[in-house]
Amino acid sequence: MDSFEIKSRAAAIAPVIRMAYSAEGKAYVSFAAECKCKEAVKDAEAAAEAVRNGAKCVCVEGVGTFTVTDAQGGGALSGKIAIVTGSAQGFGAGIAEFLASKGAYVAVVDMNADGARAEAEKIMSEHGTRAIAVSANVTDEDSVKAMIDETVCAFGGLDIFVNNAGIVRAGSLEEMTKTNFELVTSVDYTAFFICTKYATVPMKLQRSISPDYMADIIEINSKSGLEGSNKNFAYAGAKFGGIGLTQSFAMELAPYGIKCNAVCPGNFLDGPLWSDPEKGLFVQYLKAGKVPGAKTVADVRAAYEAKVPLGRGCRVEDVTRAIQYIIDQKYETGQALPVTGGQTMLN
Ligand SMILES: NC(=O)c1ccc[n+]([C@@H]2O[C@H](COP(=O)([O-])OP(=O)(O)OC[C@H]3O[C@@H](n4cnc5c(N)ncnc54)[C@H](O)[C@@H]3O)[C@@H](O)[C@H]2O)c1
Repeated sequence: MDSFEIKSRAAAIAPVIRMAYSAEGKAYVSFAAECKCKEAVKDAEAAAEAVRNGAKCVCVEGVGTFTVTDAQGGGALSGKIAIVTGSAQGFGAGIAEFLASKGAYVAVVDMNADGARAEAEKIMSEHGTRAIAVSANVTDEDSVKAMIDETVCAFGGLDIFVNNAGIVRAGSLEEMTKTNFELVTSVDYTAFFICTKYATVPMKLQRSISPDYMADIIEINSKSGLEGSNKNFAYAGAKFGGIGLTQSFAMELAPYGIKCNAVCPGNFLDGPLWSDPEKGLFVQYLKAGKVPGAKTVADVRAAYEAKVPLGRGCRVEDVTRAIQYIIDQKYETGQALPVTGGQTMLN
């Protein structure tokens, strides 16, 4: 068995042990691919039984050792395990920091491996919560499966999956290439399906041990998932599709206690996508003359702020407040929550 197979087998055992130890999931289970105990048990069921009888360290034959730790520290999310995709920067980094600040263990996932590592280290130094960096491409099925297995082997389960990784390739019908259209579709739409397919595996396992247990799939969508976006149809189309997936996943996953909701932020004008001094949208729009009469980046920014009834861009804390609500609210699923300062209003 190679290390991927071992982790895959371990990922099917750790959540069972975790819920056997604490029905609310108030525990972490770490895994090592070596047998560290005197005696090994045969399977997940026997391991769960050993833990119910007080063992804090269990070895499963041919797989390795599972070590149980009580959830420590305070915070509303103490004992929770979260993944945030695309969290090396931008909204994702802010969301990962927020979840850690509330006590959750967090996997910082990004295809930018160095950025993910730096963000995980920042979280550990600022919040004293354990974080891991996972390098993954959310459009690649094997990579996504490995990301889930790695997280579950590090912490013992999965309670909150935030589908945040996203890209923009704007352009008119004349400008847009099929290659770019398909790239946006794969990251902003297809990856949400791939990630949900694998993220729900440990969540369902946890529910099978603990019938009242609930988990969250949260898609970071966009106001462009609620109304069209001029010369940005590849993005808007993928985000509209994300709402369709959110609603359909919500129906399919409700019997397993897994809620699925979307947050639809307005423009994150302080974030790197807009404010990067070289590649940011402010600079691009200024050069392209998209805002009539704008002579500086500040003029472009003012024009975008003026579109928002509450007069400013969306911030990380606006999005994390919505995430907090979604997690706290146990009686809502399949919803798309606008966080747009009133720029987009639901009917
Ligand atoms: N920035 C905005 O104004 C805005 C507004 C509404 C919604 N959103 C949504 O919020 C989310 C985050 O946006 P942001 O502005 O923070 O983006 P960002 O560009 O700052 O960060 C996105 C991160 O995703 C990572 N990523 C991209 N493709 C990936 C892949 N295939 N696999 C793994 N990681 C990948 C990038 O490396 C990057 O770290 C996106 O889904 C976006 O559509 C953004």
